[in-house]
Amino acid sequence: MLHLHMCFLCLIGIGILIYFVHQRPSCDHKGMLLSRNNVQPARTPFYIVVVCCGQRVQETLVMIKSAILFNYEQEYLKFLIFTEKEKDDELREKLTDWKSILPALFDFDILPLNFPSQNEIEWKNLFKPCAAQRLFLPSLLTDVDSLLYVDTDILFLSPISDIWNFFKKFNDSQIAALTPEHENENIGWYNRFARHPFYGRLGVNSGVMLMNLTRMREFNWEKHILSIHEEYKLRIIWGDQDIINILFYYYPDKLFVMPCEYNYRPDHCMYMSICNMTDSSVKLIHGNRGYFHADRQPLFKIIYESMESYQLGSNANTNFLMPLREALNRKSVNESSCGKISTEVLKIATKLFGNSY
Ligand SMILES: *[C@@H]1O[C@H](CO)[C@@H](O)[C@H](O)[C@H]1NC(C)=O
Ligand SMILES: *[C@@H]1O[C@H](CO)[C@@H](O)[C@H](O)[C@H]1NC(C)=O
Ligand SMILES: *[C@@H]1O[C@H](CO)[C@@H](O)[C@H](O)[C@H]1NC(C)=O
Ligand SMILES: *[C@@H]1O[C@H](CO)[C@@H](O)[C@H](O)[C@H]1NC(C)=O
Repeated sequence: MLHLHMCFLCLIGIGILIYFVHQRPSCDHKGMLLSRNNVQPARTPFYIVVVCCGQRVQETLVMIKSAILFNYEQEYLKFLIFTEKEKDDELREKLTDWKSILPALFDFDILPLNFPSQNEIEWKNLFKPCAAQRLFLPSLLTDVDSLLYVDTDILFLSPISDIWNFFKKFNDSQIAALTPEHENENIGWYNRFARHPFYGRLGVNSGVMLMNLTRMREFNWEKHILSIHEEYKLRIIWGDQDIINILFYYYPDKLFVMPCEYNYRPDHCMYMSICNMTDSSVKLIHGNRGYFHADRQPLFKIIYESMESYQLGSNANTNFLMPLREALNRKSVNESSCGKISTEVLKIATKLFGNSY
C-alpha cells in the first residue's frame, strides 16, 4: 500500500517536472523575440503596420497617436513603420518622446523600404517601392503571425481590439479582411470603370487590412501577387489595391469582408449617407484623397486637427473630446453632408472619455 502511494507521488512529481520543462522554452522563446528592443512584456503585441513615403510623416504620427489614445484597454501595441531613410530621425524623435510618456503601452520599429531577399532585383523593378511594400509583408515579417495594416490617412476612433476581433471570425480559408470599396452601384468605381476583374460586386478598399501572415505564407501569397502583376500591369490604375482586388476575385473564399464603419470614407457621406453602421459608430475613419487637409467636407479635417492638437498623456475628455465636439457643432459642419454623421463619430469617444475630468 505504502509503495503504491510513493509511486503515485513520484508520478505526480515527474508530471510537474515535465510540465515545467515543456513550458520553459516557449516562455524563453517569446521573451527573446520581444527583448530585441528591451521591452519585456510577455503579451503578444497587436502589430500595426504603416508605409510612410513622401510628405506623410505628420499624418503617420497622428494615426499612431489615435491608435494609442483609443487603446483604452491598454493592449500592448507595436508599430512597424516602413519608410525612406531621410524620414527616420523625425519619426524616431517623436515616438521616443511619446514612449517616455507611456512606456509600457507601445513600442515601435522603423524599417527601411525592403523587399524579400530572394529575387530582390525582380521585385524592385516590377513595382514602385512604396506601393509594393505592403504586398511583401508575409516574407519580410517572418516572426509575425498577424497584423493590421493601415494607410497613413487613417485615424482610429475605437480601440484596436475591436477590429482585431475579426481575426477570430475568420473561417478556415480566410487569410485577410478588408472593407468594400463602395456601397452603391451608381457611384462605385470598379463596377463602372475597371478594366480588370475585381472582388465582389464593387471591389474592396485596401486602406485598412487585417492580415494573417501565417496563412498568407501558407497560401504562397507573393507568388500569386507576382503573376497577377505580370498579367495585368497595363490595366491597373490604383496599384496595390487593384492587385489585391484581382487576387481576391480569383480566391473569394480567402477574404473576410468587414463592414464599412471600419474604413469610413468621404464617399460614404458626400452625396448621401450610404454606410449603415452597427452600433451607430464610426470605428476607423479614412481621409482619403486628401480630405483630412481640405475644406471640402470639414468633418474630416476637424477630426484630424483635433487629434493632431491633442497632447498624448493629457486628459482625453477636456483636451480631445470636448474640443472635437465643439468643432463639430459649427455651422459649416452641420450644413455639410458628412456633418450628419457627427454623432456617430463622437459615439465611442464619448463612451470612453466622456466621464473623466
Ligand atoms: C492565423 O492563422 C494561423 C494558422 O491558421 C493560426 O494559428 C493563428 O491563430 C491565426 N492568427 C490569428 C490572430 O487569428
Ligand atoms: C469561408 O467563408 C467564405 C466566405 O463566406 C466562403 O466562401 C468559404 O467557402 C468559407 N470557407 C470555409 C472553409 O468554410
Ligand atoms: C441601409 O439600411 C437601409 C434601411 O434599413 C436600407 O434601405 C439600405 O439598403 C441599407 N444600405 C446598405 C448599403 O446596406
Ligand atoms: C444642425 O443644427 C441645428 C440647429 O442647431 C440642429 O437642430 C440640427 O440637429 C443640426 N443638425 C445636425 C445634423 O447636427
